[in-house]
Amino acid sequence: MHWCFTLMFSLQAAVQGTNDSSVVSKVSAAAQGYFQDVFLQHFVCKVARRAPLINRGYYVRWRAVDHCVRRFLHITENCPKRQILSLGAGFDSLYFRLCAGEALDRAVVFEVDFPDVTRRKAALINSNITLRGMLDSYLPSPTGPVCVSSAQYRLLGVDVREESQVEEALSAAGMDWVAPTLILSEVVLTYMETQWSDTVISWTAKLLPQSLFVMYEQIHPHDPFGRIMQDHFLKLNSTLHALRQYPDTAAQRHRFLDKGWEQCVCLDMNLFYLGLVPEEERSRVESLEPFDEYEEWHQKCSHYFILTASQGSLMAQALLPHAPVSPVPSTCPSWSPTALSVQTVPVCLEGLGMASSLVSPGQVLLTGGCSRGGRGPVTRILLRGQEGWRAVSVEPALDLGVRLYHTVTTLPGGGIMVYGGRSSPLNPTRGLFRVILDLGSPLDEEQDTAKLWVDQMVCTGDPPLARWRHTATVVSHKGKDFVFVFGGKNESEAALGGGYFLSVDQQHWTEIPVEGAAPTARHSHSACSHQGGVVVFGGLDGRGVPLGDTVVLRPSERGFCWDRIEVQPPPVPRYSHTAHVIGGRLVVVGGVWLHSDGVPGGVIINLTTCSSVEFRLDTTSVPWPLMLHSFCSELTDPEGPELLLMGGGGNCFSFGTHFNLQPITVDLTPVLG
Ligand SMILES: C[S@@+](CC[C@H](N)C(=O)[O-])C[C@H]1O[C@@H](n2cnc3c(N)ncnc32)[C@H](O)[C@@H]1O
Ligand SMILES: *[C@@H]1O[C@H](CO)[C@@H](O)[C@H](O)[C@H]1NC(C)=O
Ligand SMILES: *[C@@H]1O[C@H](CO)[C@@H](O)[C@H](O)[C@H]1NC(C)=O
Ligand SMILES: *[C@@H]1O[C@H](CO)[C@@H](O)[C@H](O)[C@H]1NC(C)=O
Ligand SMILES: *[C@@H]1O[C@H](CO)[C@@H](O)[C@H](O)[C@H]1NC(C)=O
Ligand SMILES: *[C@@H]1O[C@H](CO)[C@@H](O)[C@H](O)[C@H]1NC(C)=O
Repeated sequence: MHWCFTLMFSLQAAVQGTNDSSVVSKVSAAAQGYFQDVFLQHFVCKVARRAPLINRGYYVRWRAVDHCVRRFLHITENCPKRQILSLGAGFDSLYFRLCAGEALDRAVVFEVDFPDVTRRKAALINSNITLRGMLDSYLPSPTGPVCVSSAQYRLLGVDVREESQVEEALSAAGMDWVAPTLILSEVVLTYMETQWSDTVISWTAKLLPQSLFVMYEQIHPHDPFGRIMQDHFLKLNSTLHALRQYPDTAAQRHRFLDKGWEQCVCLDMNLFYLGLVPEEERSRVESLEPFDEYEEWHQKCSHYFILTASQGSLMAQALLPHAPVSPVPSTCPSWSPTALSVQTVPVCLEGLGMASSLVSPGQVLLTGGCSRGGRGPVTRILLRGQEGWRAVSVEPALDLGVRLYHTVTTLPGGGIMVYGGRSSPLNPTRGLFRVILDLGSPLDEEQDTAKLWVDQMVCTGDPPLARWRHTATVVSHKGKDFVFVFGGKNESEAALGGGYFLSVDQQHWTEIPVEGAAPTARHSHSACSHQGGVVVFGGLDGRGVPLGDTVVLRPSERGFCWDRIEVQPPPVPRYSHTAHVIGGRLVVVGGVWLHSDGVPGGVIINLTTCSSVEFRLDTTSVPWPLMLHSFCSELTDPEGPELLLMGGGGNCFSFGTHFNLQPITVDLTPVLG
């Protein structure tokens, strides 16, 4: 039985390293400065620079595992002996990293993976003098499943599912079953049928009385992002198994307690990142690369968890804290028993970060955004006729530049203002435009183009700095109309505060006194016209924490006044939603929240009584998945019972990009009744 060494030097492919996408992604993140690992690059043959979202995703994974490993090493500092057992270690560089950091005093690292993987890993280690030099009292020709055996590092080729073989191999490799041991499973157990992973969780509990199990993998398979995630792994022939039976952190925790572990703490990655990564470290990481994919980042983090389970009183001290100090309040949605019905509108229309405005009832202008295949920005009009909605293109082609996350505001007295937005996250789109729409005969059902006139608006006064993910809302003061620009972000500032007033008839940026405590700086919030002022709801603050506050800007004698209203029960914080005021109620739809209970549907806030109710959307009759973020919406009739939702979707980490391909309508009859 020559598991490893006889084959080693003839395996050219092995010496070339792996193309394993998770290792390639970790190397990319390390190269961009997210974390330090000089050894990992030795195990890859393909060096690729990944998108910032992927780098962040692998950073948080690395950081969570590193956090638990360091905590274990700290707790066991005075133990005469401690061990790390990495199951499905793949090409992880953990041993070399800890060894170089002199963190492995009196510790032995055991790694287990399939024989062909450990064989290749052994070959790679052996081919590099630095790596080989880091193995003390290196045994050149070990036997059986042992591919590498040194004083502090043992690499074993066995199938983790074969309990007795693993136990035998570990014993042969010198595992001390009573020494404090950390068992690591980083995205491994979910690849085997749940009966096998359950067995692993049981036998480790049984055999290692002083131990800490650390696991990182996926949860929430059933929401739109979860579904795309599952489909991705299915296509790669590496089905995710465990999350069907254990779909959330509570189920994972009970799983470990049921399988014999004494204590268990499981946190989703949003809670880990916001609660256990110090703010300075988060700022460092967030400033490494231009970034504007908040929705995707939070969704990725809500679909992975870090779990620690302990045996023995010493190991209990190494558990993650049950309730980390998180800046996100743990509000639960107050669900209404009624779900709002959602229908498809048979028009092809897709885009992320588009902006819309209701020009008049049944007429919606849509600009900018990006769509599949990097197709450029398209300006379109949606018209409602007797046959339902239809899309009408615009002539001459309207060039507003590449624009995402901008605003389109219908001005009192005619015209539509297009403001802000960005092309790349380093390039805000400058310029302010006024668009005038000529639909010809609106009753002509055959008509398939509309005319638009576009003027650059030249405004006097002090304009706000270029921004995106802001709002631009019509307010009025003493009979004069203004566009109120609030919040957003720019290249260097994570969230902008302040408010700016543009006089509509004078085209002048005007200083108007505003009293009261201004709301926290934010972006991706909503701001709706209401009684001459605006209602601001939600958004994401400068620390990357979703907000759930409702703040009203009211006209006053001298100017305006901010007035925060305390809504009961408090709505779950969210951002990237849309909102409309309908007859004294604020209707908020979609968005992203960090709550584990599904995705947001709609929350209705009664602005008189300041009470709120959450509604789910009944999406059974629309194409699935429906992703309601980075979309736009219009109330097609000012008093109407129906909302039209257009575009939306996002890049689902490395699992593919999803676009909602058709608009949908949400029937608001149950909430307006
Ligand atoms: C996604 S990789 C993760 C590798 C490593 N834990 C990391 O995070 O970088 C999953 C690893 O688990 C290993 N694996 C999966 N099923 C296994 C089994 N039944 N026995 C041993 N290893 C297994 C695979 O070979 C692969 O190396
Ligand atoms: C890695 O992938 C590249 C193409 O993506 C391929 O040409 C190469 O042979 C692969 N190497 C190994 C060792 O699998
Ligand atoms: C060996 O690996 C180390 C660490 O990854 C790297 O710095 C060094 O360049 C490698 N040496 C060779 C000869 O590949
Ligand atoms: C997955 O397995 C099927 C059937 O065994 C095979 O046809 C397909 O090529 C595999 N796909 C990948 C991505 O390996
Ligand atoms: C972004 O906004 C901040 C705050 O208003 C400002 O100080 C900064 O100069 C802006 N950054 C750029 C690149 O314009
Ligand atoms: C707000 O709630 C009060 C008390 O339930 C109700 O009388 C009023 O009609 C509601 N207003 C709106 C606009 O729904």
